[in-house]
Amino acid sequence: MNNINLNIVNQNNNAGLNLITVASGKGGVGKTWLASTMADCLGKKNKKVLLFDGDLGLANIDVQLGITPERDISDIILNKCTFDEAVYKYRDTNFELLAGKSGSGFLSSLNLPTLDNLKNKLIQNSYKYDFVILDLAAGIDSPVVSLTIENGQVYVITTSDPTSLTDAYAYIKLINIKYPKIKINIVINMVSSKIEGMETFEILSKSCLNFLNLKIKLAGIISFDRNVNESIKNQKLFLNRYPTSTAARDVNDICNKIIKHDQ
Ligand SMILES: Nc1ncnc2c1ncn2[C@@H]1O[C@H](COP(=O)(O)OP(=O)(O)OP(=O)(O)O)[C@@H](O)[C@H]1O
Ligand SMILES: [Mg+2]
Repeated sequence: MNNINLNIVNQNNNAGLNLITVASGKGGVGKTWLASTMADCLGKKNKKVLLFDGDLGLANIDVQLGITPERDISDIILNKCTFDEAVYKYRDTNFELLAGKSGSGFLSSLNLPTLDNLKNKLIQNSYKYDFVILDLAAGIDSPVVSLTIENGQVYVITTSDPTSLTDAYAYIKLINIKYPKIKINIVINMVSSKIEGMETFEILSKSCLNFLNLKIKLAGIISFDRNVNESIKNQKLFLNRYPTSTAARDVNDICNKIIKHDQ
């Protein structure tokens, strides 16, 4: 059964291009906000999207969005329900959520075979969606690297802060060793100008080319926008609350590119 589903994924979805991992290395740079806003944005463009909270143990997509799903990823691992039964379906938007559980010692201490199994289940079920977006935890330890979906696209998010850039580079270096064919896209977040974003990308791009012989792509630049924090404080979907804000426009540009490349 698993093999059959995997074949369907590969045939229908352009060899995993619909699987998007959002990672960063450094914490607090906007992964969760970007992953959920991209899911909502693609959903609003009539794409069927699954958002997966891969920050195991410190999951907080549900908190950022002010929802309380009845089931979560641990129910799938413990075989308490099927994958589909664990998915939370929003009433007012076109994306679905597989939530984690914050403070779960069980989820934060999964061994690598269990993580692999979980990732495979996600890949096997991805054929049901136009896009699957995986929000990863910060850091570069083995659960983070293991959950990265190797036959998909990785969106590495960084700010122009040198510590954030260094951690993004460290994640890219590790992931490139483990999965040499993986496609890496960069999002520069919280910039005060597009020039700052371009300069930050150039620094990272040159390091990857010189030291890893790796070409990375710029997926987009997102402005610092105080509305982001406001929407998280209010636990509302960003695009519903601030649809015409600068950051909303920037995420929209990234999603338009994703859809264009998917066709
Ligand atoms: N474009 C932006 N403009 C202003 N603030 C932003 C922007 N993007 C993210 N933030 C702020 O950054 C903070 C961290 O965001 P988020 O929780 O999404 O980061 P994260 O990378 O998922 O963190 P963690 O590594 O802890 O999971 C939030 O408080 C949010 O308001
Ligand atoms: Mg997060």
